[in-house]
Amino acid sequence: MSGTGPSRSHPVLSDGQTTLRRFTAADASAFASIHTDPLNITWTASDPAMTVREAGELIAGSIARGWEDGRYLRFAITDMLDGVPAIVGTLSLQDVFSTAGGGSAGVGIKMLPAGRGTGAAQRAIALLCGYAFGNLGLEILHWRTTAGNEASASLARRCGFVLAAEIPGYGHVDGTVADGLMFTLTRDGYHLFDGLPAGSGALDLTPAVPVLAGDRVVLRALSMADAPALVENCRNPEAVRWTAVPLDYSMADADFFINKLTVEGWRTGRTLIFAAARADTDELLGTIDLQCKAPGAAAVGINFGPHARGTGAAEEAVRLLLDYAFDQLNLAWVHWIAMVPNWASRKLAWKLGFHYDGHGRGDYDDRGKPADRWLLSLAAGEPRTPVQPWTGPVPRSG
Ligand SMILES: CC(C)(COP(=O)(O)OP(=O)(O)OC[C@H]1O[C@@H](n2cnc3c(N)ncnc32)[C@H](O)[C@@H]1OP(=O)(O)O)[C@@H](O)C(=O)NCCC(=O)NCCS
Repeated sequence: MSGTGPSRSHPVLSDGQTTLRRFTAADASAFASIHTDPLNITWTASDPAMTVREAGELIAGSIARGWEDGRYLRFAITDMLDGVPAIVGTLSLQDVFSTAGGGSAGVGIKMLPAGRGTGAAQRAIALLCGYAFGNLGLEILHWRTTAGNEASASLARRCGFVLAAEIPGYGHVDGTVADGLMFTLTRDGYHLFDGLPAGSGALDLTPAVPVLAGDRVVLRALSMADAPALVENCRNPEAVRWTAVPLDYSMADADFFINKLTVEGWRTGRTLIFAAARADTDELLGTIDLQCKAPGAAAVGINFGPHARGTGAAEEAVRLLLDYAFDQLNLAWVHWIAMVPNWASRKLAWKLGFHYDGHGRGDYDDRGKPADRWLLSLAAGEPRTPVQPWTGPVPRSG
């Protein structure tokens, strides 16, 4: 249940787990912590030297005035941590411009480490959007971020915002000017939003796929130059046996995967697909992806061609992907699901520190037939080396 109360200048918005409310003098220490957090310093104009006293003065001063004149509405985000509500970030409606027919505002968010990757940010934004469009009657919200701040862009997309413009010099990194992105969400788009992006009227820009470079492997965007190798990899019997690739994989399948599925996956933030290529020749080794179905967690998908297996390349590719998932997207969990008995897959996950969580009977859709699956997981901060003895078969030779 979400609700607003108790008053227009002191609203409390809550879905039962996450709450938005005004800051009080007692929150000064948490407010200062938000500003002195290194990630917030990097990507937002946080004051790295803010003291608790200065935070208290801001809460009583400019933040209170913002609520009085209605132009800058800064909320504290609280979430249940160990059963107790704790401040996990701040979310604001900035430059609120109300008109008779609607109006606009910017959205600004900064999270504390305890709130990142937990879904609290997404829940908080859902509450804020309901308030902005429903209670305040605004017609459009703007979300400004710096190019390269993947956690922010991905959160915006998951909340239904669409990319409207890339603006030179409109962002900042570590106190220096950088290029910026502007996302927007309209009232109509918000009401239409049901997990798919509300795209009407927005520019249809191709999303940027980051390049994650390792010593021997690079994760980058797929292109049609990869299509012949992709077709070969997806026709390989092991790929057919253990993944959901279409049967009799063709160039048309590759075209659809590269130009439709992958682009849509990055645009919505739901499925982040990379090509894994050799760092020296750029030859395609395979594909690897993050399936972001629930807040704070994602599952790995991987398919390497036979020429690339057993070379350590898949391991390096997953390590790059894990760094991205935990350090850039701030996920709390990465899951690994393999159809039983895909020992190559399970062994790779084991090498990377994934914990074996269990065996789901009939819980895997093997092209329309129920099959068993293994579930493994890795939490942010856990070691990326084996944590349990290897209990599977020893490798086949040759
Ligand atoms: C799964 C996959 C990405 C792993 O990549 P890889 O390069 O083979 O991984 P690695 O060589 O680093 O590790 C695999 C390990 O499993 C072992 N292995 C392979 N087949 C095995 C089997 N049938 N029984 C026991 N161990 C096996 C390998 O010997 C290796 O262990 P080792 O390094 O101790 O020798 C790759 O094999 C692949 O793309 N397979 C086809 C698609 C697929 O299965 N995707 C995963 C879906 S969940």
